[in-house]
Amino acid sequence: MIEQKEQVEKIREAFNQEFGPFAGFRAAINVLHLADAEDLSRELGELKTKHTGKKSELANSKKLIGRVAPEERGAFGQFVQTVEKEIVSAIEEVENNLKNFISDAKIERERLDVTLPGKRPTVGHLHPITLLRQKIEDIFVSLGYAIEDDREIETDYYNFDALNIPEGHPARESQDTFYTTNGFALRSQTSTVQIRAMERRGVPIRIIAPGRVFRRDTPDLTHTPMFHQIEGLCVDKGITMAHLKGTVAEWLRRLFGKETRIRLRPSYFPFTEPSAEFDFSCFKCGGTGIFETERCRPCKGSGWIELGGSGMVHPNVLKACNVNPQIYSGFAFGFGLERMCSLMYSLDDIRLMFENDVRFLEQFR
Ligand code: DAH
Repeated sequence: MIEQKEQVEKIREAFNQEFGPFAGFRAAINVLHLADAEDLSRELGELKTKHTGKKSELANSKKLIGRVAPEERGAFGQFVQTVEKEIVSAIEEVENNLKNFISDAKIERERLDVTLPGKRPTVGHLHPITLLRQKIEDIFVSLGYAIEDDREIETDYYNFDALNIPEGHPARESQDTFYTTNGFALRSQTSTVQIRAMERRGVPIRIIAPGRVFRRDTPDLTHTPMFHQIEGLCVDKGITMAHLKGTVAEWLRRLFGKETRIRLRPSYFPFTEPSAEFDFSCFKCGGTGIFETERCRPCKGSGWIELGGSGMVHPNVLKACNVNPQIYSGFAFGFGLERMCSLMYSLDDIRLMFENDVRFLEQFR
């Protein structure tokens, strides 16, 4: 029996040695990190299997009971049981402590302090091009115009033919765009909407059509392959160049102030006759060309800013839309938003407007 008892004592000793680091967690623990407690719990699980599992030495030691003399069997059996209880309850105690600690720590981690100040969501804002577009739209709506929105993918017919630009016309070249393989093109001008709108609404008509246009340009300080235009169209009985001039003058006055003046310069566009480019007096120097004793920047000292093209709608364009040019006449105009925006904010690189750098965009909040 002495020999067997010694064996069981050894088992107890081996356990005590390995259990040593855990012994400290018998009492309540509250200095652990959750992750450490979870690690310990896992290690303790392994220790438990090793020392109390089916294949443990302790389980084996029960076989020794049969080997001691019958009269000592009872006492030895009890001894083995005591050791087993000791080991099992030591493990259980620490196990429970760790379990409670982990569960408390998890609850603590998920606790919500409703008294903490909240994080304010950062609210976005509109892009400068959108802001300018909306301002201009508001002005035209107040002048009785409707806003037209139309497709960006077009046929040659709407982008060119119906606008009096037949195949082989040199005006097609300056507006080279991007083509699909099945005969469509990205529109190179919002003038396409003149045709679409007259087909859809008939005349009389007063619309502006803001939108994206595309050209096969390599990006540089003043060019991007996509940009925005606003097209205007007014067709009715008795519309003259005076209406064109009055309308352009009025919307620019409403945008830049009452003192704004405009001028029309003779020009050429296939879809208008006569045609004119329109300029307005510089918003910065008031048309003097000098700002704070220096040459004014936006107008380069000329006092005038060139904005867009315009003219009286060509009879061929009206005919293409089944409108009788003997009865109806109209004016149209078109201009680019990026150029206007860069002048207004003294941007020297138009690409800034498409790079979406928040440091740039934030300035328009
Ligand atoms: N579509 C022309 C362009 O992209 C601009 C333009 C000029 C529009 C004269 C018009 C107009 O409506 O009458 O260059």
